[in-house]
Amino acid sequence: MKAAVYRRFGGPEVVRLEEQPKPAPRRGELLVKVQAATVSAADYRARTKHVPKGLKLLSSITLGFITPRIPVLGMDIAGVVESVGPDVARFKPGDEVIAMLGGTFGGHAEYVTVPQDGAITTKPPNLTFEEAASLVFGGITAQAFLGRTGMGPGTSVLVNGASGAVGTAAVQLANTAGAHVTAVCSGTNADLVRSLGAETVVDYTKEDFTQETAAYDVIVDCVGNVPFRQLQPLIKPGGALLSVIADLIGVLAAGLRSRRTGTHITAGNVPFIAADLAHIAQLAESGQLRPVIDRSFDLTDIAQAHRHVSTGRKRGNVVVRVAVASTRRPSVE
Ligand SMILES: NC(=O)c1ccc[n+]([C@@H]2O[C@H](COP(=O)([O-])OP(=O)(O)OC[C@H]3O[C@@H](n4cnc5c(N)ncnc54)[C@H](OP(=O)(O)O)[C@@H]3O)[C@@H](O)[C@H]2O)c1
Repeated sequence: MKAAVYRRFGGPEVVRLEEQPKPAPRRGELLVKVQAATVSAADYRARTKHVPKGLKLLSSITLGFITPRIPVLGMDIAGVVESVGPDVARFKPGDEVIAMLGGTFGGHAEYVTVPQDGAITTKPPNLTFEEAASLVFGGITAQAFLGRTGMGPGTSVLVNGASGAVGTAAVQLANTAGAHVTAVCSGTNADLVRSLGAETVVDYTKEDFTQETAAYDVIVDCVGNVPFRQLQPLIKPGGALLSVIADLIGVLAAGLRSRRTGTHITAGNVPFIAADLAHIAQLAESGQLRPVIDRSFDLTDIAQAHRHVSTGRKRGNVVVRVAVASTRRPSVE
């Protein structure tokens, strides 16, 4: 099978197409023929080892110290179950699925194995594979974090970094729950986040949201550029801070800071579970969650997709069409 492989850490050019052995599903696993995936912020971090302060050593244990330990990136997929291993009852060949592979990666390949009890669910039938793939990374992350709050009608939610994969999902999930959403993004993305349900938009290139007098029940921080001491006064008593991206101190101090301030802090990695993905899929099927795709690339052009993600400016998601891989030659960069 064709797979996008990286053998050393570095720029987008380190990712190349290679022939790899097609995996076989083991007990409890499905073999999925991947139709589409995304190049996400996590792929960027894994490829470059550009991780938040203090997390380099810890991340090297999973990513590799000198050379990449997991050669095929891609945290999310939309595809079709090709075959199943022993003891698989929940899915059968031909089922259309979406899955979050998380830290095992492997989605940038024509086939990947997924445990049936992993973060996998039926693909919303009304969406294309590309659209469905674009829901997974941001959607499951936003749901995993927001699900830890009592968010509901009337809750005030600020999303910092509202135009990225996680941000665009968080804005929509909060809006769907009846929350009042304030989105922080650059002016160029103001119309996008308004169309997703943000009531108020703060253009961070012109205004500093930490200088506003408003306070929120929930702050979702997808950027990690504001210290806790500046965020905390913006959170109402008993409110929540969801640090989707946090440095080592932010992760380690979350418990202590929660006890000291009464703010419920979730920082760093959260488990990705099938129930959250199923919720996302159901919202998408009923039209309450919209896929946000910036650009799509063929697998043969994966380095270009990485290059676009490396800008840090993508709007929503960058999709990779995997199923066309064997029918096209790479375009010249
Ligand atoms: N904890 C977890 O399990 C978990 C899961 C997923 C992701 N993450 C992390 O969460 C972060 C967000 O992920 P993502 O996928 O949403 O990233 P992303 O899609 O790459 O984010 C790109 C967006 O960030 C915006 N942005 C950049 N600088 C900004 C600033 N100063 N203020 C506001 N917006 C800014 C950009 O908008 P403009 O072009 O308008 O600036 C762009 O739309 C990443 O660091 C990622 O590694 C963590």
